[in-house]
Amino acid sequence: MAIPSSDPLIQLDRVSRSFPQDNRPDIVVVDECCLKIYPGEFVALIGKTGSGKSTLLRMIAGLIQPTEGTVLYQGQPVDKPVPGLSMVFQDFALLPWLSVLGNVELGLEALPYSRSERREKALRAIDMVGMDGFESAYPKELSGGMCQRVGLARALAVDPTILLMDEPFSALDTLTSENLRADLMDLWKTQQTNLSAILMVTHNIEEAALMADRILVFSADPGKIKIELQTQLQHPRSENDPQFKTLVDQVYDCITQAAQDYKPPGSRYKVIDLNYRLPKVSISELSGLLEALNAPEYARKADLSIFAEELHLDVDDLFQLIEVLEILRFMYLEEGDIVLTPIGRAFADADILSRKTIFAQQLLAHVPLVRHILRILEERHNQSATEARFLIELQDTLTEETSKEVLTIAIDWGRYAELFAYNVNTGLLSLEDPE
Ligand SMILES: Nc1ncnc2c1ncn2[C@@H]1O[C@H](COP(=O)(O)OP(=O)(O)OP(=O)(O)O)[C@@H](O)[C@H]1O
Ligand SMILES: [Mg+2]
Repeated sequence: MAIPSSDPLIQLDRVSRSFPQDNRPDIVVVDECCLKIYPGEFVALIGKTGSGKSTLLRMIAGLIQPTEGTVLYQGQPVDKPVPGLSMVFQDFALLPWLSVLGNVELGLEALPYSRSERREKALRAIDMVGMDGFESAYPKELSGGMCQRVGLARALAVDPTILLMDEPFSALDTLTSENLRADLMDLWKTQQTNLSAILMVTHNIEEAALMADRILVFSADPGKIKIELQTQLQHPRSENDPQFKTLVDQVYDCITQAAQDYKPPGSRYKVIDLNYRLPKVSISELSGLLEALNAPEYARKADLSIFAEELHLDVDDLFQLIEVLEILRFMYLEEGDIVLTPIGRAFADADILSRKTIFAQQLLAHVPLVRHILRILEERHNQSATEARFLIELQDTLTEETSKEVLTIAIDWGRYAELFAYNVNTGLLSLEDPE
């Protein structure tokens, strides 16, 4: 829990990070983030895919530098990796040719320890994460959960003050991540380490609510800390505790509030521009969600957190789907509830062909990129254009990779709606039935 009278361990002052692009304006990924982390705190940073969470964490770890602003650790600027700050990566980042012991010792190599001290510290960390007996095993012999335990041991071996974790459990199955989470909380709460604070990036709301004292909601384009939520809920927390459910509801509310940006005053719906980073969702996912929402039990509205739980939806996926459905005006959010609109209900009730017509109409009205593609195709005498033509335009504000993703999504949706055709071999877009 925050002890406001003490000095922050970490302090970010208007930290921004942009990435240069060839012959194009820089892309701002993290924008003027301010943050203080105090001794004793477990802080979770939650936000959607591609919003810049890892970039922010890497700046705190000293792995990359901010383009503007400062990162301080115990009052000193972080301009390279510093002892005391240790990172756990999502993909474990183990070297396959080194044993468990070798991988853990590797983290200690940069520090001024003798060989025997290194060994002793590595063995202690391996013991701490429950991997005793596996010192000589190689990563390929280990399950994902065990690999992440080794990743954690490597981070803990240097006896850090702060642990930075980038989605440490997201590559693991549910049971394994529950198990590892509980062990980590145990390590943290029983003070077996000298850890003074933890900052964890996640896109899992339950995970944040189970572990953190403070939850920061990060919003995208450009990445900013939008809202923060402090909780005093005691550990260990139980998913069945009504207070825990209230906390989860509060996090949902914060995420929905953070997403209000694109809504003009008084409007229920998001209004997007041509270069908007369209969420990566497929038509079948959209249709499936609308069908589920159209069920009698959600006749008037569906509570967001209950709906997510009942459908076993990954929260990141759910928010992406909701975003698209809001843009297309198939639904809107009202105080944590999903409300299906008449057009959303009409889509769910319609047959395949009518669905395409409704979808086409909503796409053209509310997704400027699809409207733009169609207009260009109509203007051209051969009624076709290369995808490269649109990619170049998108790259004014999006990275090359993101531009490709966004165009692919717009093309998928446009093809489904039968607004235009696309030849994957030639990369040519054309009107379906040119006359
Ligand atoms: N070195 C780089 N050069 C150019 N662009 C980059 C670089 N690193 C990150 N980006 C861009 O910055 C954006 C944010 O990336 P980042 O990995 O920080 O997001 P994230 O929130 O961690 O996403 P995820 O949830 O998928 O892990 C992305 O659009 C990515 O393409
Ligand atoms: Mg990331």
